[in-house]
Amino acid sequence: MKIAFFDSGMGGLSVLHHAMKVLPHEEFIFYADEDNVPYGTKSTTQVQKFVGDAFDFLLKQDVKAIVVACNTATSVAVAEMRRRYDLPIIGMEPAAKKALDMDGTKRVLVTATPITVKGRKMELLIEKVDKDHLVDRLALPELVTFAERMEFNSQAVTDYLQEQLEPFDLSKYSSLVLGCTHFNYFKDTLRKILPENVQFVDGNEGTVRELIRRLKERNQLEHNAQSITYFYSGRQVTDPMELERLQKCLARLEKMYRI
Ligand code: DGL
Repeated sequence: MKIAFFDSGMGGLSVLHHAMKVLPHEEFIFYADEDNVPYGTKSTTQVQKFVGDAFDFLLKQDVKAIVVACNTATSVAVAEMRRRYDLPIIGMEPAAKKALDMDGTKRVLVTATPITVKGRKMELLIEKVDKDHLVDRLALPELVTFAERMEFNSQAVTDYLQEQLEPFDLSKYSSLVLGCTHFNYFKDTLRKILPENVQFVDGNEGTVRELIRRLKERNQLEHNAQSITYFYSGRQVTDPMELERLQKCLARLEKMYRI
């Protein structure tokens, strides 16, 4: 059986990229909802419908687990999917706890989409983990648009990030949380802007660790040759140009992995 990774678009590849390293004998499905990306600037009702449609499709694909490699979809739709379906559903939330655990005295900047930043789930997380009020939040929706058009380190990206980060005194921060899976593509551009004291924190490793734990629990880890089948909103990707785009994204993520 297969493991599905689902995102609104190319961001989820950053989680799959890590999973490919630690699960070399699994068959993966990667589902990018390219017809509806971006999610983060739409209404929660719209995103709930998109996620429901994606799950309907994925559950017909012989999957043993679904990783919602999207903080936005997790924020508004995962609870309902878990009520509906009885298979491991692994969601993602901005790694604010991990960031606070790493330092705990300096500030933490959580970046994500507008839905995630403003959501109830984020409020609850902050209430739970940010006892000393060290966490600030910043929505960076344009990064999703840039990533989808494979624009990662142009002057426009740098200008946008500089402008958005301008109000923050970055010398007071220990980390920047990449709370949207699309943001991993911009680590080199961000690295040039951020002072050395600011580290990147993301939830990719933790998410894959949880996936492995859940599969082990069910005795469902396999020993197949690794494979990936790609889908854009329910259509299998076979166009060589699109397959090349996906490979380029994975190659970029391999570069970002070491930053
Ligand atoms: N990659 C997604 C996330 O982690 C959402 C991007 C979007 O579609 O706005 O939140």
